[in-house]
Amino acid sequence: MRDPRSEALLAWYDVQARDLPWRVPPGADRRADPYRVWLSEVMLQQTTVAAVRSYYATFTATWPGVADLAAAEDGAVMAAWAGLGYYARARNLLKCARVVVAEHGGRFPETEAGLRALPGIGPYTAAAVAAIAFGEPAVVVDGNVERVVSRLAAIETPLPAARPEIRVVAAEMTPADRPGDHAQAMMDLGATICTPRSPACMLCPLAADCAGRAAGIAGTLPRKAPKAAKPERRGHVYLARRGTDWLVETRPGSGLLGGMLAFPTSEWSDAPREAPPFAAPWRRIGEVRHGFTHFGLTLDVHATEASGNPDRGRWGALDPRSLPTLFAKALALWPKKS
Ligand code: ADE
Repeated sequence: MRDPRSEALLAWYDVQARDLPWRVPPGADRRADPYRVWLSEVMLQQTTVAAVRSYYATFTATWPGVADLAAAEDGAVMAAWAGLGYYARARNLLKCARVVVAEHGGRFPETEAGLRALPGIGPYTAAAVAAIAFGEPAVVVDGNVERVVSRLAAIETPLPAARPEIRVVAAEMTPADRPGDHAQAMMDLGATICTPRSPACMLCPLAADCAGRAAGIAGTLPRKAPKAAKPERRGHVYLARRGTDWLVETRPGSGLLGGMLAFPTSEWSDAPREAPPFAAPWRRIGEVRHGFTHFGLTLDVHATEASGNPDRGRWGALDPRSLPTLFAKALALWPKKS
């Protein structure tokens, strides 16, 4: 027997499921492709459906199957990921595809535990792929689910301490049949109705079962422990153009923006020293800022059209779409010809 909340949720999903390119709609008589489910779930972490759509379309057009992705050049995959952020995900994506091909004959393991053992697949992704692609009743908990469940059960313990309580309720709700639809219904509810601010409870299929709503506190949940302030770092970035070429480099494989196309920068610290890649009349043209997970970064942007022998990087044509957003923002400060 299904949990009555899941029953109501699935009935709602049967009518209201969002039409998403990686999704098999409810009632369709086919299984989702594990490769596409996995790719979409990795892309959707920390990001919205709207931001992911075009990247998903490019990836599936360029690399339609896991073997295609495994055979891709690292630089091509990193360039296609540019702009989506959290670049370790792209490096792990490629690693994972190669392990699936080399060690699993090109087929994703069909259990949560098997998936969890792959590079870059954490508890959330393993559960989501197991439920959506393989019909395993795995308990899928992302930020949307945390919000929905903390409201439904009026859990006032602040996050992250509330996670075990949330998991218990999420597990109670997970049905043995249609676990993938259930997980996606929770996500759709969280994205469209049970939204962070001013949830649309009037439209919610679970309103009658919602303890948070009954107590008049739904919109204030989940509570969150205050976050420590993030430190701020600074640095310098150097844009050099020679004719139609730019001085670019590939960032080291591990670390922030690892493996991505970049302009040379100084160290990032409290008091970074200038570190131009060659001696030239550098002009400061502005600054750019980016919030990384653990610190905020402001880079002074320096520009020159003088040529020189750089002590790093290479001169070459530049496709700005291959740059991470931080460097694309720096490039946007390059003076336009009047
Ligand atoms: N967010 C993360 N995974 C999702 C999915 N499968 N459908 C909709 N939103 C999501």
